[in-house]
Amino acid sequence: MTLANQPSGSPPSDPQLYARSFADVYQEWYDDLDDPAVMVQAFRRQCAEGASIAELGSGTGRLASPLHDAGFQVVALDASFQMLGFAAPGPRPIAADMTAIPLASNSVDAALIAYNTLLNLDSHEQQQRCFVEIARVIRPGGVAAVESFIAMTREATPFGISIRQHPADPDARIAIITGPDLDEPDVIVGSHVELGSPIVCRPWRLFYQSPQELDASATAAGMVLLERYSDWLGTPFDDSGHRHVSWYKRI
Ligand SMILES: C[S@@+](CC[C@H](N)C(=O)[O-])C[C@H]1O[C@@H](n2cnc3c(N)ncnc32)[C@H](O)[C@@H]1O
Repeated sequence: MTLANQPSGSPPSDPQLYARSFADVYQEWYDDLDDPAVMVQAFRRQCAEGASIAELGSGTGRLASPLHDAGFQVVALDASFQMLGFAAPGPRPIAADMTAIPLASNSVDAALIAYNTLLNLDSHEQQQRCFVEIARVIRPGGVAAVESFIAMTREATPFGISIRQHPADPDARIAIITGPDLDEPDVIVGSHVELGSPIVCRPWRLFYQSPQELDASATAAGMVLLERYSDWLGTPFDDSGHRHVSWYKRI
């Protein structure tokens, strides 16, 4: 599928890769990832009641729906019709690429890009373009929340093979295989391999950026780091931790 708003002249990228690999199992595997009520509370601390929020890469609505139910006006943008098709009614769905957001400038109070979704944009150029788009659609003074993982070291940590219990079947196993892209050192390629019969490979690809590198992209786009935590609860940030939730403010 080609999206109408997919930018031309950008490096090769596949905005459908994640959905092709995970759309059929996303809700079953990831719906209980975190308590969405905690994320909703974090937005209540940052935004006025009924504020408008654009979630980029909203998937099946794991977070967009609870935000809508809490009274926020939610736009749920995703590149995948299949992912959007699983979402409950409520948030306004938009099928689009998050590097070219079809919303007017200064039209929302806040943006959300959760659960490593920004890293699905697999080049620095595309992530930078996404930050520029976020800064464009948020009104001055509005905020953007970015949730992402932190790699311990650039080289080795995320790479290897781990065998885990299958997320949906206690009797089955899954192998998670990760390694560097041979041409692009910041790209991590991987696959969740279901070790059943048949074996199912679910490939993915992430362009890793540290919190400080994301800050530089945000600053270049016209936003400043407001607050950074280790999670949605607001646990103080620990740069030896595994995750960060960063709040940027549009200048
Ligand atoms: C890891 S899932 C996260 C879904 C949801 N935010 C959550 O936390 O449950 C990533 C989502 O980003 C979407 N996505 C990937 N690349 C995209 C792009 N370039 N533009 C818009 N959405 C994209 C995928 O289709 C997928 O639904």
